[in-house]
Amino acid sequence: MRINEHFAKLPGSYLFPEIGRRVRAYAAAHPDARVIRLGIGDVTEPLAPAIVEAMHAAVDEMGTREGFHGYGPEQGYDFLVEAIRANDYAARGIDIAADEIFVSDGSKCDSGNVQEMFAAAARVAVTDPVYPVYVDSNVMAGRTPAAGPDGRYPGFVYLVGDESNGFQPAPPPDSVGPVDVVYLCSPNNPTGTVATRAQLEAWVAWARAHDTVILFDAAYESYISDPSLPRSIYEIPGARSCAIELRSFSKRAGFTGVRCAFMVVPKDVTGVDPSGERVPLHKLWARRHTTKFNGASYVVQRGAAAAYSPAGLAQTNAQIAFYMENAKLLHAGLTASGFTVFGGVHAPYLWLRTPGGATSWDFFDRLLGECQVVGTPGAGFGPAGEGYFRLSAFNSRANIEEALARIQRQFGPGRA
Ligand code: MLT
Repeated sequence: MRINEHFAKLPGSYLFPEIGRRVRAYAAAHPDARVIRLGIGDVTEPLAPAIVEAMHAAVDEMGTREGFHGYGPEQGYDFLVEAIRANDYAARGIDIAADEIFVSDGSKCDSGNVQEMFAAAARVAVTDPVYPVYVDSNVMAGRTPAAGPDGRYPGFVYLVGDESNGFQPAPPPDSVGPVDVVYLCSPNNPTGTVATRAQLEAWVAWARAHDTVILFDAAYESYISDPSLPRSIYEIPGARSCAIELRSFSKRAGFTGVRCAFMVVPKDVTGVDPSGERVPLHKLWARRHTTKFNGASYVVQRGAAAAYSPAGLAQTNAQIAFYMENAKLLHAGLTASGFTVFGGVHAPYLWLRTPGGATSWDFFDRLLGECQVVGTPGAGFGPAGEGYFRLSAFNSRANIEEALARIQRQFGPGRA
């Protein structure tokens, strides 16, 4: 069998398994160490009671002849799709039709699968640093030659996010040439920064003028507390014709282990076929979704819908507020220890400049070895992440406080 040779262009392992490998090796060599994990952004609070109750009831239903569900609708059950449409969109004055919503089993899969709609030769733009799935899934699909010595894939357009632009790169100048699709993520993973309305307006105007599609990953939208900051790309006029939006229940309702997400593909977004004819991406995605996916499970969708009930909303909002209080503590404590900290105000991630200009993997080893705290090296998110480090606010309050105390002891004033 001839293999897909493009896999050879990828780093040996995905970022988070590599971190897991290093942490396991450390823990094996130091069996008494109590390691605190602020690396992968995985929620830690138990599922909200309203969600648990809804899932229990759904399991009971499934055990009856009348309430049993086999294959469901591929795009999601009406009760969930309608809850999404009404709460996430209509309530915010956004016109999204129920059949433009595609429920799935996770945003990681959606963000990896969405590129199946692009031409093999499509030119992809990503921000740098970036959630690695956007890059790796396009590498696997053969859209670029191997990475150069600078760690960048020559087939992609990199838009650098740095301190000068607040880690929110602007649309590229025309000199970069045509771009078919750009991946944006706000609130941003990994930098924890968030795009303003003016910044998203600039993106939408640029995408419409250049016939580019925006893939807008809004997995962390529920962490935005400032009402002037957009939570959906569709809050920007004109976005319906140029943007696909990804949303997830993982970080908003604690579903990282339950799995449920959705993608919005408005019927106004089109691409061109080789003859130049315009084709709605909705048609392609509906074809893809119904061919390769048989729907998220009934029990899971009942749980997701319960996140929109009054009790579910109150309980999940309290969890988000809890994680954001963690983020606030980390931000204040790290700043007091002399770190330069970004993000963490409308996102559960903090982005630090590594002290003393250390490389991000060196700082990872130091933090693990000296503080038994795990974070994520910025370089794992792309070349522009070098010199930075991500900490996640997902953990118990006790662990956040303990991690901070250890970091302060090791790096606080006079120590670094
Ligand atoms: C992260 O740590 O970046 C996230 O957990 C990744 C993900 O959601 O897949």
